[in-house]
Amino acid sequence: MRRVVFNQKGGVGKTSIACNLAAVSAAQGYRTLLVDLDAQANASQYLTGFCGEELPTGMADYFKQVLSGGPAGKKARPPITETPFENLHLIGATAELADLQPKLEAKHKITKLRKLLITLSEEYERIYIDPPPALNFFTLSALIAADRCLIPFDCDSFSRQALYGLLDEIEELKEDHNDALVVEGIIVNQFQPRAALPQQMIDELRAEGLPVLPVHLMSSVRMRESHQACMPLIHFDPRHKLSQQYVELHSCLEDG
Ligand SMILES: Nc1ncnc2c1ncn2[C@@H]1O[C@H](COP(=O)(O)OP(=O)(O)OP(=O)(O)O)[C@@H](O)[C@H]1O
Ligand SMILES: [Mg+2]
Repeated sequence: MRRVVFNQKGGVGKTSIACNLAAVSAAQGYRTLLVDLDAQANASQYLTGFCGEELPTGMADYFKQVLSGGPAGKKARPPITETPFENLHLIGATAELADLQPKLEAKHKITKLRKLLITLSEEYERIYIDPPPALNFFTLSALIAADRCLIPFDCDSFSRQALYGLLDEIEELKEDHNDALVVEGIIVNQFQPRAALPQQMIDELRAEGLPVLPVHLMSSVRMRESHQACMPLIHFDPRHKLSQQYVELHSCLEDG
């Protein structure tokens, strides 16, 4: 399964959710790959502890091979980095991705990621993609490459408008490029159970037929601490309620 965790809104939890679901999948014994497509490289840092120059050049390296054309471009393969966590591998991101974007666009390389990830599906049972917070070349490449999309949502009315825009965008993309793409679910992140508005918004989305997943992720400082420790929650604090919610959320997925 190739999953992209996407919402163009910034800071809704894309990276946290992609990395933590990938970590649960790997801890359960599935060969799992995290593909970082964001020049901010948050996922790469979270899963390796590296930053700056030390970051693995994975995706940038791959796209440079692609841009070089000829036989090398056709056989392009990114360096894949082992993380400290068993069964969890990473194709890293670096700031260089931002410079490559206009060149990749100009050369129409939007389907290259799809071809790569279909090939890598032979080695990895689950692939999670962490795109940047924008509807740009990398995000569209990811939506074309994936067969499932998970949408983080923070129960804010601006997010709700962004969500409808995104769902329209996905419908259009399915028609033009990837009719196999399924919106697997909307993931409520940083849920506030005591406030009335978030639950009301969730009920309304469900009444509209939108697939809000039944497990809502709580807000906890442990998430930031786990980023700081460069350790997904299932390893950082497996007994914490948020870690358990991630395990439950993972089991709601089609192959969880
Ligand atoms: N369940 C949670 N509880 C508390 N804090 C959280 C939770 N999920 C995410 N956060 C915090 O929210 C911030 C944004 O999270 P994250 O980086 O995962 O979002 P993002 O959508 O990937 O952001 P960007 O759009 O910049 O890529 C981080 O500081 C993270 O620690
Ligand atoms: Mg992110």
